[in-house]
Amino acid sequence: MNSLLVYCRPGYEADTANELTALSTQFEVYGYPEFKSEQGYILFHFYQPGDADRLGGRLAVSETIFPRQIVVVTAHLEGLDKTNRAGPVLDAISQADTDEWKNTLLFVEHADTEDGKALAKFCKKFIVPLRQGLRKQNALTFKERNDGRGLHVFFTDYDNCYVGHSYPDCRSPFVNGICRLKFPPRAPSRSTLKLEEAILNMLDEEERSTIFREGARAVDLGACPGGWTYQLVIREMSVEAIDNGAIDDHLMATGLVDHYTADGFTYKPKYGRVDLLVCDMIERPDRVAVLMSEWLDKGWADHAIFNLKLPMKKRYDTVATALGEIHARLGKKASDYRIKVRHLYHDRDEVTVTAIKA
Ligand SMILES: C[S@@+](CC[C@H](N)C(=O)[O-])C[C@H]1O[C@@H](n2cnc3c(N)ncnc32)[C@H](O)[C@@H]1O
Repeated sequence: MNSLLVYCRPGYEADTANELTALSTQFEVYGYPEFKSEQGYILFHFYQPGDADRLGGRLAVSETIFPRQIVVVTAHLEGLDKTNRAGPVLDAISQADTDEWKNTLLFVEHADTEDGKALAKFCKKFIVPLRQGLRKQNALTFKERNDGRGLHVFFTDYDNCYVGHSYPDCRSPFVNGICRLKFPPRAPSRSTLKLEEAILNMLDEEERSTIFREGARAVDLGACPGGWTYQLVIREMSVEAIDNGAIDDHLMATGLVDHYTADGFTYKPKYGRVDLLVCDMIERPDRVAVLMSEWLDKGWADHAIFNLKLPMKKRYDTVATALGEIHARLGKKASDYRIKVRHLYHDRDEVTVTAIKA
């Protein structure tokens, strides 16, 4: 096969396909998507032999918006015999092996759909004999580590799977491309997980330590009941929390939060500037994009992390337009920022944007 298998949130197949089409044009490798809606993945087939592997080795999941994982497909196995599913998978892996890369990780995965989740137990069981078989035929390092090729076996049901691989600088490190986080019991809302996932997965270690430090100041627009403010406060930042709603009492008791009942679109930082602006207001994405650009452009905030709520259709176009707006408003200053957009696991019909000043 000469295709990429791209996992996404069910319902986001068309958006993922649009993004892959745009990216393939950008990388000058051409192909077309294939998907059914709500299946939780797409295939992207290429015309030129070798192009799937070429793009799969250059396109980092972390730099994309909707993909959760990107796998270079080497085989599609159909009608597996349930008395020996591992045999054909082992054969497919050894046929696609090259001397150039060591296989250092193994993933047995499924889509994030109801049908897919029903395969979770089976996948966890299947990985054990498969791992042993691979080690026996010298196709997987004994100690699994992140610096080599990752092998992926993606079951679409008990009898059918795709086999393929991912590259260390490009793949998501998570099984099924999903970063699961435990809900912190003292956080006032589940929204807290969106910001936590962004902090953990969209920023690097240096960015985390420079921005999230004791004494740093933040503004949280649309803060209530306080899930995002909670993430800032546990990192010992002082927060101006802006919202007409009620904020969690425990957060106020920390002494690190000032709550202002004001409109997020007209609020200005109390002391002239802050280190970080965060915003989770339910508002039109173009309005939020303009507001965020203004704060960065005026120097009211050094960095920004915000969510853009998405419409039901043309979500890739909506994100692209919002990003275009941000770049246009920042002009030359845009190159001072590392801007990333991700549809995170804990996001629903929204994406998270990080704009971090170099
Ligand atoms: C999704 S909730 C935010 C949840 C919050 N991030 C958390 O983790 O708890 C959206 C909030 O935005 C607030 N909001 C919407 N429009 C606003 C505006 N123009 N100014 C201030 N707050 C606004 C709403 O009152 C609501 O509390």
